[in-house]
Amino acid sequence: MSHPEAKARLVIAIDGPAAAGKGTLARRLAQHFGLPHLDTGLLYRAVARRMLDRGEEPADGRAAERAARLLDPAEVGRGDLRTPEVDRAASIVAAEPAVRAALRSFQREFALARGAVVDGRDIGTVIFPDAPVKLFVTASAAVRAERRWRELADRGIAVEPAAVAVEIAERDAQDRHRPVGPLIEAAEAVRIDTTDLDPEAAFAAALEAVQARIGASA
Ligand code: DC
Repeated sequence: MSHPEAKARLVIAIDGPAAAGKGTLARRLAQHFGLPHLDTGLLYRAVARRMLDRGEEPADGRAAERAARLLDPAEVGRGDLRTPEVDRAASIVAAEPAVRAALRSFQREFALARGAVVDGRDIGTVIFPDAPVKLFVTASAAVRAERRWRELADRGIAVEPAAVAVEIAERDAQDRHRPVGPLIEAAEAVRIDTTDLDPEAAFAAALEAVQARIGASA
């Protein structure tokens, strides 16, 4: 990248299914390019957490919309957003079109201020269809389930591996089949399959893809 102003507004959109390695990759790319990172899954998780705390039903669309509109960015930093309970509730609120609409401007404003690496499910298709770089990060369902199980185990959350595999399959189905903001691979996205890649190799592949799109001096 030769032009500093262009770099300041660079948006790298990363989409893909749960536990494919998007987060790790997004953090590394953000660090490499000196950009902020927005994990948009945390927005849906924070909306779900707020509803659970208030005893609201995640499937209540009006309450979910209200929770999304009232979302305080500080809530996205909460330490209790990655529990199985929040996993389930977040995928329900994420299917509500009014929630997606309420969170859209938050995502655009965040990234357009200084540029950003933004990861989620509909970033390259709905939120930033104009992003100069789009990556689609995926991995086999079995490998993703194993990674999620390990991540939970490392945090002291004991669950059966088979139960994690079922959850991943259910969330994949929900993410891919919801009518609004479904997980779809953008036609122009560069696909990175991390099934057989460690984080270092995935980063190298992503960096090559970004440089191919924006110029080798990046
Ligand atoms: O990536 P994650 O597991 O933290 O995402 C939490 C939930 O939010 C998951 O059900 C997918 C959904 N999500 C979404 O619908 N759109 C996004 N841009 C990001 C996440």
